[in-house]
Parts: sequence; structure tokens; C-alpha cells
Amino acid sequence: MATSDLFAQPEPQADPASAPGRIKALRAELDLHAHRYYVLDEPSIPDAEYDRLFRELQALEAAHPELQTADSPTQRVGGKPLGQFAQVRHRLPMLSIRTETDTEASGAQNFDSRVRKELGLAESDPAVEYVAELKFDGLAMSLRYENGILVQAATRGDGEIGEDVTQNIRTIRQIPLRLPADAPAIMEVRGEVYMRRDEFEALNERQREKIAQGAKGERTFVNPRNAAAGGVRQLDPAYAAERRLSFFAYGVGEITPPDQGGPAFDSHLQLLMTLKSWGFPVAAQTALAHGAPELIAFHQAIGQQRDKLPYDIDGVVYKVNSLALQRRMGFISREPRWAVAHKYPAQEQLTTVLGIGIQVGRTGKLTPVAKLAPVFVGGVTVTNATLHNEDEARRKDVRLGDTVIVRRAGDVIPEVVSVLLDKRVMDAPQFSMPGQCPVCGSAVVREEGEVDHRCSGGLFCRAQRKQAILHFVQRRAVEVEGLGDKLVEQLVEEKLISTLPDLYRLGFGALAQLDRMADKSAQNLVKALEKSKHTTLPKFLFGLGIRHAGEGTAKGLARHFGKLDAIMNATEEEFLQVPDIGPIVAKSLFTFFSQPHNREVIEQLRACGLTWEESEPAAIVAKALSGKTFVITGTLPALSREDAKERIEAAGGKVSGSVSKKTDYLVAGAEAGSKLEKAQALGVAVIDEAALLALLDAPPA
Ligand code: IVH
Repeated sequence: MATSDLFAQPEPQADPASAPGRIKALRAELDLHAHRYYVLDEPSIPDAEYDRLFRELQALEAAHPELQTADSPTQRVGGKPLGQFAQVRHRLPMLSIRTETDTEASGAQNFDSRVRKELGLAESDPAVEYVAELKFDGLAMSLRYENGILVQAATRGDGEIGEDVTQNIRTIRQIPLRLPADAPAIMEVRGEVYMRRDEFEALNERQREKIAQGAKGERTFVNPRNAAAGGVRQLDPAYAAERRLSFFAYGVGEITPPDQGGPAFDSHLQLLMTLKSWGFPVAAQTALAHGAPELIAFHQAIGQQRDKLPYDIDGVVYKVNSLALQRRMGFISREPRWAVAHKYPAQEQLTTVLGIGIQVGRTGKLTPVAKLAPVFVGGVTVTNATLHNEDEARRKDVRLGDTVIVRRAGDVIPEVVSVLLDKRVMDAPQFSMPGQCPVCGSAVVREEGEVDHRCSGGLFCRAQRKQAILHFVQRRAVEVEGLGDKLVEQLVEEKLISTLPDLYRLGFGALAQLDRMADKSAQNLVKALEKSKHTTLPKFLFGLGIRHAGEGTAKGLARHFGKLDAIMNATEEEFLQVPDIGPIVAKSLFTFFSQPHNREVIEQLRACGLTWEESEPAAIVAKALSGKTFVITGTLPALSREDAKERIEAAGGKVSGSVSKKTDYLVAGAEAGSKLEKAQALGVAVIDEAALLALLDAPPA
């Protein structure tokens, strides 16, 4: 197989059981798996197995420092932080490419005409052969291998002098640290370091979380290119490694010349194939193209795929394939005459903010959206861009009238990247979320520790009605057989229903009128609706779709309160008395039942004939430990912690994991540690198991 040949090692001279032999074998095996995983995208062993081999190699190298080498896979992450980067003079300058800004087909036509003219070709001469490549949107890198070992990675800089970023580049798993035995003594590979879009989104998501948790000096990144460039320029390679960068090879720099034993390449394509055979990633889209028509076809085909690629490209590159012709054509001012970059419409543009609206999602989540002066970006006209949430909108400080950079890349929804503050002309106020849902007027809540604001009018809100209806009619809730996604969609779209009770007001007539609805199905649905009216209190409660209130909570509520009215009128404190209901759920329940619209919908449902059995509330009998909060620590003599917890909860008490001023008792067993100290410091009562058992037996206070 090509891949195993690629990294095949000469037979280890040392005994394979000896340290040098084992180290060699481990390095070869790890390189092989890394190549399969990172370049070929065909993982061949589980991650855990890779980690095991990696740790074995690390341990062996630690025990035998004299056997450590720079090309070992362990060296991808071991570098020490630098004070600054050293300068590197490129042996052969790093050129740039002339850019064809005409994004239409004529861009390719112009280039081909120029090439033909330079080469003195007549119209009757055959088409010029080109290699068409992607133009990756990252940063150029030169990788220098001496005797097959990666010795230096340098940025482009001004083309003459770049920076030595070797440590950071070693962390890129797609870049071989060592070349196979047939590679020349001196070999510079040139290509692009970039960040995949999914890695970019994940990085920004991590950044947003850090910021939400109050981390200082953190920010989100504008685009994958900036995030990649920032990663390459980290002084500490550990940070560079976190960026999870990637690489594509597209050319070469200095190479041992053929008369000194180096390879003789005839064409650019041959050169790329060789790089590929040595383990470098070369984009699969690379293709031969003959004359302008095939260049145009390539530009168009890639333009169609652009959104689906996992990374950003800003164009394609055409290169004359024959190296002899390349030499004949030469350069003008640092740009080869034999290559051109043919662009696509930009994925970032400037525009102005006409307002900030609020979108309410199917689940009630509120998203601030910037309304924009229409702008053509990433191939479509964009008029809206998400600001994600309140924190994000404030951090970017987007305001009415601002000039902003909008980005639309791939099928990712358009986003406001940043504001050009020096262009701010209006004195508009800072953004804040409305207190009421713009769709239904219910209270908007943001839970502790969450970034999102939500509408609490789940039963009434138009934005959430499909979701609410589907939730209500599912089997685990009141169950209306035969009422699925499509039918709900149809009923809502045709305005036959807008809230839940409307469902029960639909007669056979209205249903039978629907497209694709046979009389028989309409009859069945009417029957199913009738049947669903006889339900249980837990099913009904669960069906209301109250945030954080799952089936377990619904059952607990029904058992504890017995009657719906008692639940609808309970306070947060009273909800907290229910076993397994904590502060977040209690608050969510209270908020939900406080919304007049939600209450009205519930009343209407009852009026439509929904019924269930009610019972006496279990909570009327006050329990021994009602309202008391316990923390358990250390080992108790007889009870396990789980047993103790269960018995406390059964007696109406709560068990919490940490001691605070609100703790009533700390139950301490043997070897109690910091919790005991904290309880003593706060003056919380400390009791042992015997005292707990006494409390459990005591009559309610
Ligand atoms: S070739 C001799 N090929 O675009 C020309 N460059 O200004 C040397 N780039 O700095 C570059 N994709 O960072 C070449 N397939 C590709 C490329 C590519 C992206 C970048 C590169 C260079 C810039 C051109």
C-alpha cells in the first residue's frame, strides 16, 4: 500500500526489543497512523491506542535522552515558549501571485491570452496546459527539510526575510517531520497554513464561553485566516497546538539540483504528485486544464463547491504546467508571469446597520439580529446578520448606524464580525435585550449561567407554536395518534390552528378539507383528539413543555400537589418543597405559570374538555425535615451516602453538595475534610449519623 511504503523504515539495525529498536519502531508506527488520520482522513487505530503508543515512546525517550531526535512525533508538542522569533532569510524568495480581480469568466480568458502572447503562440497553436488549484485563504509557509528532517519553518514575511516559526509548525499533524529515504538532501516545500471552518467555529465557541465566564483579555476571532495567522505567531507552541491548524502544499523552494543527485521534475503536476507521495496534503481538487475554456470550467465548478468545502478559499490559481515554459516566461516584480489567482466574490464586506431586531426561535430562544443595508457577500445578498446573544452584541458593540464588517462563508449564517468604531456617526444606545418577547409579549428570562434569553410564553407565543403543539401531542404527553410533524405544519400554515386549544375546536369538516386528507383519516384524527382528552395530570403537565420540566418533574408535581390549580398557584418556595426540584426548575415553573397568556391557554384546554383525575396533595402533611437543607460529608457508620440522601429527601429535606450560609445541617462522618471546616467557619450545625436518625424520627416541627 502506498501509505505503508511511504513511511516504511529500513530494518532497524538494533535489536527490536532494545530501546533504540523499540523507539524506531514506535516512531514509524505513529507517523504512519498520523498520516492516515490527518492527511488521508482514514483513521486506522482507535485514538486510545495511538495515545498508548505515544506515551510508550515518550517514556522511552525520557529514559534515554541521548536517543531523542527532532523528528520524533513526541517533538510536535514539546517546545518551550520563545521570547521572540528569529529572522530567516529565504534562500529563494517567496513570491506572490498576480491577482485577477475580474471574478467573471473573462478573468481566466485574460490570463490565457497573456500567456499565449508571452510565449509567442499563434491562434492555430494548441492550447496551453495548466494546473488549476485552489487558492487557500491562510498564510504562506516555507518548510525546509535537510537530509529528510524538518529543520525550519518560516513565514513569508516580505518575501525575502520571514520569521522562524518551526516550533509552532511542528504541532501541525499534517506536516511530516521526516521525509522518506528517496527525498533529496535539501528540500523546501511551500504551501498554506490554514484553519478549517469547523475548527474556527469551535475555537470561537470556546472563546465565547471563556468570555461569558469572565475571562479577561480574551476575544473571538474575525475569520479562520486571522485565527491561523495568530496561531502561527504564538510564542508558546502549546497555544499554537490548540488552534489545530492544517496545511496544503502547492509548490517548492530550494531543492538539491539534479546534477547533485536531486530530482528532475518536468511539470508542476509531477512535482505536486511527488510531494503527495512524500506525505504532504495536496488538495484533491487540483486538476489539469487545457486553454481558457477548461480554466473557466474549473473556476465555475469550484465556485459551486466553495460553500461546501471545509475551509475558506478566496479564488483559484492557474499555473502553466510545464516547468520549461515557466522558466521561459520568468517574473515581473516578484510575480511569476506563468501564474495567476482568479478570485471569487469576497466573503467579507462593509455595510451599515439599519437596526437591531430580535428573532424568536422555535424553542423560545431570542437572538439579536442586525438589519443591514443590503450587501453582496459570499455570493448572496445579505440583509440580516446574527449577533448570537446579548453578551456578544454588547461585546462587539453593534449599534444603529454603525459601519460593520459582515462575513458569510460556507453555509454558515451571515455574521457581523466587527464594528469600524472610527466610522460611528450616530449616538445610538448600547444594545440590550427587551424585557418582553417581541412576538407574544410574555416575560423574557435569562437563567443564571446561561447566555441565552428566552420567551416564557411557550404555550401562547406564535414563534413557538409548532414546537408547543408537537410537544403536547406526543405519546409521552397527551398523545394524539396520527398527528405528526407534517400535519401540524399544514394546520399552522393554513391558519386552522394558532394555539393548542384550537386543535380541539377543529371539526371533521375543517380537517376533511385539507389537502391530501381522506375522510377516513379526518375521522380517525377526530377520534384521536377525543381520546386524548382523557389524560393524566403528569402527562398534561409534561405536555405543556415547560423548560426544565421533564416527565419526572411532572410526576413529582402531580404527586406533591395533587391538583392543577395548586400547581398553577404555587410559589417558588412551594415548588422547592417537591422532591428533586431545585431552584432552576422551581423558577422556570413559577415564571411559566405567571404568564397570563399561558394560564389562559390552560383554561381554554380545560374548557375544551381535557380532564384527568386529581388527588389530595401529598404535601399537606408537613414532613419532619421540610425546608431543611443538608450536606453530607465523610463516611457515616451505618448509612451509605445514597441511603442518607434518600431518607432525608423522603422526609422532605434537601441534600446539597456544598456548604453555604443556607445549609441547615452538615452531617459529618469519619474523615470529614474541608466541608467540615467550612461549616464550622460559617456556624452551620454539625451533626453525626445518630443525630440525623433522631431528626428523621422526630415529628414535624
Ligand atoms: S503559489 C509562485 N498556489 O496566495 C507563486 N499560492 O499571493 C507562489 N496561495 O502568498 C504562490 N493558494 O499564500 C500559490 N495554490 C496556491 C495558493 C497560493 C494560496 C497564497 C500564498 C501566496 C498568495 C499569493
